[in-house]
Amino acid sequence: MQRLQQVHVCADPHAVAAAALAYIVRLADDSRKPGAALHHLCIAGGTTPRTLYSLLPAAIDLRNVDLWFSDERMVPPDHADSNFAMVQQAYLQRALHPPRVVHRIAGEHGATAAADAMNAAAASTPGGLTFDLALLGVGADGHTASLFPGDAAFVNTNPTGAAFVPARDGARVSASFERLAAARQVIFVVTGASKASMLAALPGSDLPAARLAAALGPRAVWLLDADAAAQQ
Ligand code: 6PG
Repeated sequence: MQRLQQVHVCADPHAVAAAALAYIVRLADDSRKPGAALHHLCIAGGTTPRTLYSLLPAAIDLRNVDLWFSDERMVPPDHADSNFAMVQQAYLQRALHPPRVVHRIAGEHGATAAADAMNAAAASTPGGLTFDLALLGVGADGHTASLFPGDAAFVNTNPTGAAFVPARDGARVSASFERLAAARQVIFVVTGASKASMLAALPGSDLPAARLAAALGPRAVWLLDADAAAQQ
């Protein structure tokens, strides 16, 4: 039976958030080391990382970092379902040293226009856009970002190598599988008993999170709480 690799199990969701924070702070502090620096950080939406984001305002200096979103729903930035709104409330509006640039996915413009704008921003990034670190969640169905099982954004090839693609029939925009798979580091943050059976079934499956973790190899680590890790 295949198993997740590089798994770190923490006692509870707050301990997971603290471990993820330590990881990000360490990478940001390594900015003195060429190549190890944190310049492009990609973060997930959803509910799991909210505790981590609430720890960021006074804990980290992202003034040399571009902040990107792994995905967004096609809603206005003040909508209850907006990932940006969640990050704004938990972190950005209280950040002592906020990111140099926040690349918000403009959900209010619709998936095609929003993805085009994000791809223009990625293309104008000096040296091209490579995420130095992507912090991703995983849904109970094995999706990550907005790459869902059977969805065109995950199933279809990406001939242009776009960094961001429309997903879920235009209800979302997601970082593409290829761009996430090219990240220098990915932390999958997964908590709660509802994720335990999915995590047990993930290794070796064709689910998006499994395929991405396989593509990343040693560049992916898993931060789980005890409930999510119960079947590991
Ligand atoms: C989103 C997220 C998504 C999330 C998973 C897990 O827009 O919903 O980016 O990929 O990470 O759905 O969500 P939870 O953390 O809420 O379980």
